[in-house]
Amino acid sequence: PRFFALVPAAGVGERSGAGQPKQYVEIAGRPMLAHTLAALAAVPRLAQTLVVLSPSDDRFEAALPDCRAWVARVGGASRAESVLGGLAELRRRGAEEDDWVLVHDAARCLLQPAWVDALIDACQHDPVGGLLAQPVADTLKAGDADARVTATVDRRDKWAAQTPQMFRLGLVERALLALGAAATDEASAIEALGLAPRLVRASMANFKVTWPEDFELAARCLYQVGP
Ligand code: C5P
Repeated sequence: PRFFALVPAAGVGERSGAGQPKQYVEIAGRPMLAHTLAALAAVPRLAQTLVVLSPSDDRFEAALPDCRAWVARVGGASRAESVLGGLAELRRRGAEEDDWVLVHDAARCLLQPAWVDALIDACQHDPVGGLLAQPVADTLKAGDADARVTATVDRRDKWAAQTPQMFRLGLVERALLALGAAATDEASAIEALGLAPRLVRASMANFKVTWPEDFELAARCLYQVGP
C-alpha cells in the first residue's frame, strides 16, 4: 500500500479573528498552509499530498505559486465533508482501498517530518491505524457559559488528539459516511465503528492555530526551528 496525505483547508477560520481564511494568514513571511505543505513534502514515504479547498477559494494559486501538491476544490460545510470529498478525489486519482491516508489539518503548520515518520512507523502494520496525540498535562476543568468551573475532569487517561490521523482509505471513508458531519476528527468516526485507533505521542508544538494569539506563538516557534 501507498501513503497519501490529505489536507482539509476549506474552513472559514471564524475563531481566528483574521477576517480571511486562516490558512492564508502569513506566519514568518509565508501563508500558514505553505508551512504545512512544506513539512509534508519533506516526508519521502508520502506518495502525494492532496489539498482540499472550498469551491469558492480564489486565492490558492496566487498565495502558493510553487505548490507541487494536488489541489481539489471539493470542500464541504464541515471538516468531515471536506475530508470525504478529498477521499473521493484520491480514488479518482488512483488511490486504492488499502492505501493509507494521513489526514492533516492545514492549521497545524508546525508539523515536523519526524513526527509523520513516527506515526507511519507505529501504525503501518496496525489493523486499525492511529493518530498523533499528546497526553494532557494540565488539570482539566469543565466550565459553564459564565466561565465558572462546574467540575474537575480526571486527566489521567486523557490525550489531546492532533493530526495527522492515519487510516486506510476504504475504512476511513466508511467510518465518516456512517458518522456524518458530527465527526470533528477521523479517529472519532473510526471509534464509532467499535475500533480503537493507536495513540502516537508527538509534541505540544503540533498545536492547531485557532485563536488570534496563536499566530504570534506559531511564528515564534518557527523562528526557533528555522524557516
Ligand atoms: O474548524 P477546525 O479547526 O476543526 O478545522 C480543522 C481543519 O479542517 C482546518 O484545517 C480547516 O481548514 C479544515 N476544515 C475544512 N472544511 C470545513 C471546516 C474545516 O477543510 N468545512
